[in-house]
Amino acid sequence: MLKVLLIAGARPNFMKVAPIYAEMRRREDEFSPMIVHTGQHYGAAMSGAFFEDLKMPRADVHLGVGSASHAVQTARVMIEFEPVLFEQKPDWVLVVGDVNSTIACALVCAKLGIKIAHVEAGLRSRDRRMPEEINRVLTDAVSDLLLTTSQDADANLLGEGIPQEKIRFVGNVMIDSLREHLELSKSSHIREDLELTEGEYAVVTLHRPSNVDDGATLSGIMNSLMEIAKDVRVVFPVHPRTRAKINDFEIETDGVTLTEPLGYLDFMRLYSGAKLVLTDSGGLQEETTVLGIPCLTLRENTERPITIEMGTNILVGTDPTRIKEAAANALAKRKPSDIKIPPLWDGKAAGRICDELLR
Ligand code: UD1
Repeated sequence: MLKVLLIAGARPNFMKVAPIYAEMRRREDEFSPMIVHTGQHYGAAMSGAFFEDLKMPRADVHLGVGSASHAVQTARVMIEFEPVLFEQKPDWVLVVGDVNSTIACALVCAKLGIKIAHVEAGLRSRDRRMPEEINRVLTDAVSDLLLTTSQDADANLLGEGIPQEKIRFVGNVMIDSLREHLELSKSSHIREDLELTEGEYAVVTLHRPSNVDDGATLSGIMNSLMEIAKDVRVVFPVHPRTRAKINDFEIETDGVTLTEPLGYLDFMRLYSGAKLVLTDSGGLQEETTVLGIPCLTLRENTERPITIEMGTNILVGTDPTRIKEAAANALAKRKPSDIKIPPLWDGKAAGRICDELLR
């Protein structure tokens, strides 16, 4: 029986942890899983709604760290997590993604000699200005088992000198959650509430510091969204970081429908019916790929190149003219009829992750 602590820190972690936890509970002779919530994201909108929608039980341990600068937040997770390890003595700690909680927990384990599995290992934007890129590189460097979503990630890890025997291509566990919840998301009334017609609106998300923390960049992007909103409804659930910056810089948003951050099912119902998605999120590049929804990524690079090679994703950067042109092009086209799904994005990644832990 393997005792595994699953680390859930921030919003994009929850839909990756949920299927792994559920699989481990199904295999109760083999696994004893516990959820540790660091508290990096908190409250109903950024955390509670996800646990509810994903049918995850309350976390077994809550570290309650909250928001702070990178150093303070990372350090608080480390300080609060170390005694949990002394008490629980797990066989493995499983971290997902690339948030501050991911590297903080991995680093504590590495120093204590506790085995670390990293889900979504090996993704690289090669842009060290992104805090997530630092978190990815460092987490992979100290992990014992590197579980990858696509084979370009395997190549990245090998290129960094990580031995082949530590790397396992298991596919994309976030897509397990997507496949499990797509039908269920039809119970959401979000489209009716916002008076949207399927296939006739665009969805936007924005929260990268590089896009929202600088007033000129944010207002340039918002100007392009206001232009696009003259042709098609544009719905923008606003991340708390972005909301604060829109207020601080007094950015205009006329014609764009702003909402609070949405839960997992409401947001899935929203983007799954969109004609077009514009985003700087990592996960949404993958979710739109699986559903065949055109996605414009408002960044200069992506750590998920397979969404461009096989999927519907196009990198457009943050230049307002380029965004407007790319959106006009995408809106003029029909939804692609043949959806290409990357290998092992099949809804069965959690099973493979559990198998690899046992091996
Ligand atoms: C974090 C992750 C990012 C991920 C994103 C998803 C890091 C370095 N960044 O960025 O990779 O894509 O989550 O959302 O780990 N806030 C709230 N409520 C919350 C959380 C945050 O109001 O539950 C506000 C706080 O003012 C906080 C700000 O949002 O200072 C930013 O939050 P933080 O967790 O520092 O980074 P994110 O931008 O959310």
